Amino acid sequence: MVFYEHHIFMILLLITCTYSFGMADGSDPRPVSGPPAPPPPVPSLTQLLSVGDRLVFLCEAPDGHHGLFFELFGNKTLVDTVQHQTEECGAIFTVNRKDVTQEKPFCCLYMDARRMPSAFSTYVYAKLDEEASPLPPPVLESSSSEVQRGQMLSFNCSAPLCLRPKLFQLLRRSAGSAGSAGSPLDLLGPGAVVSSSPDPIFRVGPLDGGLYSCLYQMSLPTDLRIISSASQAVQVTVLHEPNTDEPTDWPFIVGALTAAVLFLAVVVGLSLAVHKKVREVAQEKKRREDAKFWSTVHARDHVVDLPITRLSSFFKDPGPDSGEYADPRTLSTFANLSYS
Ligand SMILES: *[C@@H]1O[C@H](CO)[C@@H](O)[C@H](O)[C@H]1NC(C)=O
Ligand SMILES: *[C@@H]1O[C@H](CO)[C@@H](O)[C@H](O)[C@H]1NC(C)=O
Repeated sequence: MVFYEHHIFMILLLITCTYSFGMADGSDPRPVSGPPAPPPPVPSLTQLLSVGDRLVFLCEAPDGHHGLFFELFGNKTLVDTVQHQTEECGAIFTVNRKDVTQEKPFCCLYMDARRMPSAFSTYVYAKLDEEASPLPPPVLESSSSEVQRGQMLSFNCSAPLCLRPKLFQLLRRSAGSAGSAGSPLDLLGPGAVVSSSPDPIFRVGPLDGGLYSCLYQMSLPTDLRIISSASQAVQVTVLHEPNTDEPTDWPFIVGALTAAVLFLAVVVGLSLAVHKKVREVAQEKKRREDAKFWSTVHARDHVVDLPITRLSSFFKDPGPDSGEYADPRTLSTFANLSYS
């Protein structure tokens, strides 16, 4: 009986140990949330236009991926590391030309915040001639193709890289350099920079009419700057004619009306004066003619005397003292008739 109880106790102990061992095994610090995270996807490496005696490389993570550290390798040896403040989609490296041969293969990788490295990019053999590609041109948009003289206009210079440019520049192109997108900067001529800003949105004015373009600059830790090729040109026309939206120019209108009223007054005054003069002249002429007539009539008085006397005696009445007014010209007509 005692042996039997001891046996049961031993079995219970065994179960407990096994159970305890199982618990210990379960508390092992290995991750319990499935397989480890995969490495970030493979970046791409391209060589850009050289700056002076520096060769320039751009290492970019694929779309939507970012890294805090980017590393450039030459012939499988670490050449340079770029560490960003916040995660970026790529990094630009420069390498001294004399450290590069055409046989030296370059590649890059990037690491996220956990320092989990991506796989290496494919190898790139450096081009020592100038056949490398420039930074791709930005796209320039203006809020309008027309602007009233003296007014402001907005421009949006958007860079095609996911990397943040250090600086954007708005330029006015000379008439001879109205090229397409991608024109080198030296075609734009001196004094062409209208505005520079770390922000790609420009609000500028007053503007001259013409062609506008923009570019962006990427800065490097070595104090070097890489300038993109220029954007396509945007035509801006400055309107000089006031349109109906502009406020009415009251001083001009009042001045014009005053001038018109003055002119009318002068014309009316002149014509009144001329009319008065003409009337005076006509009256004077009539007076002179009347005077001349009377003097003629008086001069002929003795000549016509006889016929009038004859007529008077013929009609008997009215007599010369009848008080009725007789038009002398009527008499004259009679006189003429009597003479003819
Ligand atoms: C690359 O490195 C190997 C040794 O790891 C060396 O033999 C070779 O010459 C190097 N090539 C170039 C182009 O530097
Ligand atoms: C500027 O252009 C970019 C690209 O077209 C666009 O995403 C952005 O919203 C624009 N910004 C403004 C202020 O119009």
